Amino acid sequence: MTAKEARVKIESLRIEILEHDRRYHVLAAPIISDREYDRLIEELRDLEAKFPDLITPESPTQRVGGEPTKLFPPAVHHVPMLSLANTYNTEEVEDFARRIRDLLGHDPEQGYICELKFDGVAMSLLYQNGKLVRGATRGDGTTGDDVTANVRTIRSIPLSLQSTSKLSTESFEVRGEVFMDLEGFRRLNQEREEQGEPPFANPRNSTAGSLKTLDPREVAKRPLRFSAYQLRFDDEKIENLSELDTHSKRLELLKEFGFPVSKETRVVKDTAGIMQFAMNWQDERDTLSFEIDGAVIKVNSLPEQNEVGFVAKSPRWAIAYKFESKQAKTRLNGITLQVGRMGTITPVAELEPVQLTGITIRRATLHNADEIERKDIRIGDLVVIERGGEVIPKVVGVDISQRPKNARPFAFSSTCPECNSPLVRPPGEVNWYCENPECPAQVIGRLTHFASRGAMDIVGLGGQSVVQFVEAGLLRTIADIYDLKDHRDELLALSRMGEKKVDNLLKGIEDSKKQSTARFLYALGIRHVGTSVAKLLIDEFGSIDAVANATETAIDDIPGIGPEIASSIVAYFEQRKNKDLLERLRNAGLPFTGEKKRVELAPSEFFAGKTFVLTGTLSAMTRDEAKEKIELRGGKVTGSVSKKTDYVVAGVEAGSKLEKAEQLGVKVLNEEEFLSELQ
Ligand code: IVH
Repeated sequence: MTAKEARVKIESLRIEILEHDRRYHVLAAPIISDREYDRLIEELRDLEAKFPDLITPESPTQRVGGEPTKLFPPAVHHVPMLSLANTYNTEEVEDFARRIRDLLGHDPEQGYICELKFDGVAMSLLYQNGKLVRGATRGDGTTGDDVTANVRTIRSIPLSLQSTSKLSTESFEVRGEVFMDLEGFRRLNQEREEQGEPPFANPRNSTAGSLKTLDPREVAKRPLRFSAYQLRFDDEKIENLSELDTHSKRLELLKEFGFPVSKETRVVKDTAGIMQFAMNWQDERDTLSFEIDGAVIKVNSLPEQNEVGFVAKSPRWAIAYKFESKQAKTRLNGITLQVGRMGTITPVAELEPVQLTGITIRRATLHNADEIERKDIRIGDLVVIERGGEVIPKVVGVDISQRPKNARPFAFSSTCPECNSPLVRPPGEVNWYCENPECPAQVIGRLTHFASRGAMDIVGLGGQSVVQFVEAGLLRTIADIYDLKDHRDELLALSRMGEKKVDNLLKGIEDSKKQSTARFLYALGIRHVGTSVAKLLIDEFGSIDAVANATETAIDDIPGIGPEIASSIVAYFEQRKNKDLLERLRNAGLPFTGEKKRVELAPSEFFAGKTFVLTGTLSAMTRDEAKEKIELRGGKVTGSVSKKTDYVVAGVEAGSKLEKAEQLGVKVLNEEEFLSELQ
């Protein structure tokens, strides 16, 4: 075949494959079998192998993924990626509709468009001249991660638009959700378990984890899907909106040009229509092949969206209607105790496997001994479990009527399940602790934390290999990691450890010495020293030694750091064994010196000197993050509501603390109000 003939053939194969992709992913109506499809890909691949000059990045064969990267470059969004305000009931939806009506002076002329709220990861896709040039995660809304190489492996995302398409010469952005369907998720977890890797907790986590995988070839194997929910042109001008002036028309256009768009989308005219859509999907969500956590309601007309505008971080023209968490009942077969890296003991419910929103649940958290007592949870009980926004399902209650006669209150063990040393519960704390620093669970926990992505990020030293190396006697403390290079032969003798893997591991260990000093400090695993505290400490003191020599008062004086943190830091550096450990790490060449970057954080007027109590779940951040943000602004966070409390920040499912606040007349901030004060 001549190059010219090959070019023609390759082009026609690509068009054919593109069309089958569209039929499969967009229309869900394939007309050829998977086998036949694979054969087309094979044929194209063979031809491209013979004529490598004809390979283009948009070729369907290029979805297998390119070379691994070390890091994702930052991707600045041209238009910020916002989040949605949440609503939970009819009144809140009516409030939304009323606000719109007040702002417009009339009901929306093109109604509201109701969509499913996919429970995945938001994605921005940039196309230039009809070709995919960038895929980026939301990040903080302004800057995300450039994950283009990974996104290109997702088969339902068009790499280029057919030249016949109106969009093929345009520059535009498509936003949507990357997600994993339940079937794909189950398959992936099964494979992971077979290979001894930890399973993902839910499809959303496995999607996020997959998108953050550094090796696109690995990502290509993950069953990721995409559904588009927004189209925006680069040179968008309101006055040019004539043809595409509604959201629904744009979704139609996206569908026409090969993007997968949910077919469960409806235009309705009022709140009744919205509620009908939301209620219907709340009941029917199990019939879908993927997870949703609510509905999204948008004003359909784009000029009207524009008129209504935005508040802080979300549009005023759209809301999310969040579904209630799904509950299930199942038998509690046992309670096991897990030991964390700090020795914290967490009780875990071992459940009779039960399906909840399409996922098999076997374990759930019981939080701590107090919670077990408060809810009177006993082994043998029929318990109610719930999957909320959190990763780990939780036991929310007990069906007492189904309690077996012989069920006894749970007696919390007095010894550590891993090392048998006595457990202690410091006065005023809810947790029990294993105080034996040599406890294998803690040893493994500390090593795993040190090597983890947010800390020293040592590729090749994950949970599995840490356990293996500890068992083989190669690792005991984090300083041992840097001696592994002298134990090459012993590493090679271990199962599943080839030359290449050992080389990569040793290289990863060497590379970790280049991490920042703040990361290193965080990686040491000092109680209460998270990434932000570590950064504050290095910014203030400039080096690990200066932190180690600082007095408790000097540490406590840093805005954002309280007395509890300060005393934990001082206690850590006072211990002989930690001093020895640090000397070994210094000799190994770890980054002890950073840079002082003292930023005077003006305490905000709103937060300074005030006392806050956090309750319920916030959607934008964890409770620890909220605490840190308040403290950074000069506020204080306490655990219980009293007359001295200035504000209670109430997230979703706020319970007794909210009631108490209302009784005492303490001011309550909802999440939106809290976020706007943080701005
Ligand atoms: S529209 C400004 N539509 O929900 C509006 N979002 O909190 C931006 N999501 O980060 C989003 N399904 O990841 C929109 N049909 C849908 C959605 C959807 C899921 C996610 C999205 C976003 C979050 C909003």
